[in-house]
Amino acid sequence: MPVRALITGTGHCVPDKVLDNKYFEQIVDTSDEWIISRTGIKERRVVEPGTGLSALAVPAARQAMAKAGVGPLDLDLILVATVSGDMQFPATAIFVQAKLGATKAVAFDVSATCAGYLYLLHLADNFIRTGAYQTILVIGGEILSSMVDYEDRSTCVLFGDGAGANVIQRRNGNRGILATHVGSDGRLAHLLYRWGSGSAHVLTHEVLDERSHYMVMQGNEVFRHAVRLMADAVEVAMHKAGITADDIDLFIPHQANIRIINSLSKKLGLPDEKLYVNIEKYGNTSAASIPIALNEALTLGRLRKGDICVMVSFGGGFTWGSAVVRV
Ligand code: ACO
Repeated sequence: MPVRALITGTGHCVPDKVLDNKYFEQIVDTSDEWIISRTGIKERRVVEPGTGLSALAVPAARQAMAKAGVGPLDLDLILVATVSGDMQFPATAIFVQAKLGATKAVAFDVSATCAGYLYLLHLADNFIRTGAYQTILVIGGEILSSMVDYEDRSTCVLFGDGAGANVIQRRNGNRGILATHVGSDGRLAHLLYRWGSGSAHVLTHEVLDERSHYMVMQGNEVFRHAVRLMADAVEVAMHKAGITADDIDLFIPHQANIRIINSLSKKLGLPDEKLYVNIEKYGNTSAASIPIALNEALTLGRLRKGDICVMVSFGGGFTWGSAVVRV
């Protein structure tokens, strides 16, 4: 029986506060009709200002740990994928470790924008198969409301906050992560970034005045690359796992834009019932989007034990990642 990294528990947490499209009609020059037709988003969840990511990550982690039947002292490693952690340093994983009381774990963050969760699956799979760790908590989470410019209509309508968590454990058998693939291309960094407040452009009054502490995105260019990169990433992961699109029981793409999702699904020839979409409720939650969707799909029975799930994401950097998992 092969050694596998098995997802033994999932959880997610989103804030209570809802911003619907009508709200954005009041603050920028946009319309409910434009947002729904161009993105598929109807509403998104945001935290009250001043709420750190660990406030969402810890409840998501506790759900996943309860389902997996593991306690804090069982965790060997805690990985958080985020670009909007509680502080610049230390890592948000450190705060999660402290709040959970996971004193035996090693904890660190990974910065890979929207592909961050799939980077974590890639790391967890490799750490488990090499025997480095037995029980790993991975969390994809963002408070993107902390870096969105609510005066920029081309970005502010897109993003929401949330966190999703998995417990991943070493098991022998055919269930678990079958293949992962990750990639990055720094030549495309200029299409999506946040430079004000980094070490190259420290936070000053000038930075605040020019609003460069907010995210900047060339949406249509990002869109164009996203479809190509994600389609390729899915093919690579499926090839590594030895499956074809016919074997997919549920496809969970990054929830960034319904037009990107539909064009990917069409390329794979998937019927609607094999596609998971929740973008209308949460918008783009970056590193949280896939683990939130995975937890919902398992809870709703859209994915059952033994099913094959294919996940894919991309984000600023550019970064991308894909995974084939028998749940
Ligand atoms: N309401 C009304 N009009 C708008 C809005 C809005 N909210 N936003 C932009 N527009 C306008 C533009 O100003 C432009 O107007 P113009 O023609 O007068 O100049 C027009 O709509 C078309 O703009 P485009 O940017 O070409 O519109 P597009 O159809 O590409 O949709 C969008 C924009 C939704 C951002 C799309 O490009 C997209 O989803 N891109 C992908 C973004 C993404 O997935 N990012 C993921 C990574 S996020 C991360 O890593 C953190």
